[in-house]
Amino acid sequence: MHILLCGDVVGRAGRDAVKQYLPGLKRDLAIDVAIVNAENAAHGFGLNERLAGELYEAGADILSTGNHVWDQRELIAYIERDPRILRPANFPPGTPGAGHHLFPLGDGRGVLVVNLMGRLFMEPLDDPFAALEAILAQFPLGTGATAIIVDFHAEATSEKMAFAHFADGRVSAVIGTHTHVPTADAQILPGGTAFMSDAGMCADYDSVIGMEKQVSVRRFVTKMPSEKKPKPAEGEATLCGVFVDIDDRTGLARRIEPVRVGGRLSPHIPLL
Ligand SMILES: [Fe+2]
Ligand SMILES: [Fe+2]
Repeated sequence: MHILLCGDVVGRAGRDAVKQYLPGLKRDLAIDVAIVNAENAAHGFGLNERLAGELYEAGADILSTGNHVWDQRELIAYIERDPRILRPANFPPGTPGAGHHLFPLGDGRGVLVVNLMGRLFMEPLDDPFAALEAILAQFPLGTGATAIIVDFHAEATSEKMAFAHFADGRVSAVIGTHTHVPTADAQILPGGTAFMSDAGMCADYDSVIGMEKQVSVRRFVTKMPSEKKPKPAEGEATLCGVFVDIDDRTGLARRIEPVRVGGRLSPHIPLL
C-alpha cells in the first residue's frame, strides 16, 4: 500500500501547490491514500468547508489538522458532518469531531489515520501516548486496519522521536507535522514503523514558516506585536510530504522517502 502525507498547507500558495502536484504524484506513485495536513489552509489559520472541498478535489482523501484546527469557527459545526477531517485525538473528551478515521479502500483493505498532538512547547492537552494506546486497543494493526498512519503534530523533535519509538512495530508510520520544515531523518525503525520527524509544509519557502517574512522578522527584532495580521507568503510554493510503502501482510513499512516538488526547495520525487 502506498501512502502520501503532505505537510501543513499554508494559504493560497500551499493550496495551489497541492492542486498542481497532488494529482500527478498520486498517479506516478500509485498512491492508495493521500493525507493532507490542512490546519493552515485558510489564509494561514484553520480550515473551512469550501477549502476542504478544494483539497478533496485535488486528491486528498483525509485532512489532518493540529493546534490551528478551530481558527475558522465554522469548522466546529462542519467537522461533525465530515469524518474525513481529523482533529487531534488527545483533545479533551467531548471535543467535536474525531481524532482517527478508518478509511476503506474499497477492496477489503482499510487505513486507520490517527491525528495526535504533542505537549512539549505546546498547549496543555491529554497524553498523546495514552491516546494512541486506547486507539490501538480498538484497532490493532493487521486485524483492525491493514495500515495505521499517525500524523503527530508537535514542536519538539525529542517528543516526536520518543513517540515513534513508543509506537514502533505497532503502527505503519509516524510522520511529524507542525514545524513547517522538512527533516532529513526518514527511516524505518527497528520494529518496522516508518518515521520522519517533520514532513515540512506545502507553502512558499521564501517566508518565515509560510508567513510573510518582513512582518515576522520585525516581530523578532522589535518584540512588538505587529500592527498587521500576519499573512501567508504568496510566492510559488513547494509541496512537501512523505511517501511510505507498506507491506499489506504485516502492516509494517518497506520504504519511506521525502517528497518535495516545486518552489524553492531542492526537488525529491521517489522513483517506483
Ligand atoms: Fe502548521
Ligand atoms: Fe501546528
